[in-house]
Amino acid sequence: MINVSLDQTGSSVTILDQTKLPNQVEYRRLSTAEDIHEAIVHLRVRGAPAIGICAAFGMYVLSRSMPQDDRRAFLEGLSRAKEYLASARPTAVNLRWALDRMEKVASEASPALPVPKICEMLKAEALAIQKEDMDMCRRIAEYGLTLVKNGDGILTHCNAGPLATSRYGTALGPIFLAKERGIDLKVFADETRPLLQGARLTSYELERGGVDVTLICDNMASMVMKNGWIQACFVGCDRVAANGDTANKIGTSGVAILAKHYGIPFYVLGPSSTIDLDCPTGDDIPIELRAPQEIKEMFYSQPMALPETKCYNPAFDVTDHSLITAIVTDQGIFRAPYSESLRKIKKTNAWCDDQ
Ligand code: MRU
Repeated sequence: MINVSLDQTGSSVTILDQTKLPNQVEYRRLSTAEDIHEAIVHLRVRGAPAIGICAAFGMYVLSRSMPQDDRRAFLEGLSRAKEYLASARPTAVNLRWALDRMEKVASEASPALPVPKICEMLKAEALAIQKEDMDMCRRIAEYGLTLVKNGDGILTHCNAGPLATSRYGTALGPIFLAKERGIDLKVFADETRPLLQGARLTSYELERGGVDVTLICDNMASMVMKNGWIQACFVGCDRVAANGDTANKIGTSGVAILAKHYGIPFYVLGPSSTIDLDCPTGDDIPIELRAPQEIKEMFYSQPMALPETKCYNPAFDVTDHSLITAIVTDQGIFRAPYSESLRKIKKTNAWCDDQ
């Protein structure tokens, strides 16, 4: 199941609409900046790497309808599109990372190149971002698999599987790889209030992949840990700060605190594109706030709180680095002290060369 792809003609991006899962498998074509922005804001496409890939394809699609005979107007249009798409979601660094990469390709193209040729370079860059993500997820899966053994129980939160990336996923990568290799793991998936990514997406992906998965409400995590059913926690990440503090779906930090209490290792898995060495600590990570309706109304047949009841709905929280046993990336397994170990992350692409 491909979650984000570029149409043959290059005039639109097709996404699997994740808001319809698990009941309908529905694809949606995005051809305007507003379509792409809306799809990212409403989580039709979601998960840090996937929104970066979608935005990169989107930049190529949009570039084709920008002035083709005026390089300056073309670059200005591209820059406006980039800022607009980047504003869709602030926390996952992959979105801006991918958009910056795309803009850099255009702004550094040889002045001799005509704009249509620059558009072709943008297409190649977007495809490269997707391909690199597939490779990174595969490497994360290999490293992650070294941390567990046959029969282990794994608790995960939110969705960091193939739907959130390009293939394998990050936190779910080792689990799918284990399945391929005949290693049995038992997964407990937090339902992940309020948007139910764990129920709607993680349990769906694992069930369809033939993995032993048990869905639990978020407030049952302590119980399954106490029962001795969990040997490791695997979670994804939206941004890892230079000191190892990690932003991920709201509720992740609570899982980490519980894991520490029960002496269970807590692993964060993510591509090196999610590590933001320019962001010193978790306090510097912008946290997205979302609409109260997601708490009061969504998924209920009638509202479950009075209209005047106030809600606080942060989409992410930050797990303190002291609670993280290791950060598993495509470049290996990094351990504390993170301010030293994460500095060894290699800059693997053109975008990073001069950072
Ligand atoms: O709001 P979402 O559903 O986009 O949140 C996603 C997460 O928190 C994931 O764990 C994270 O993006 C990692 S995806 C590989």
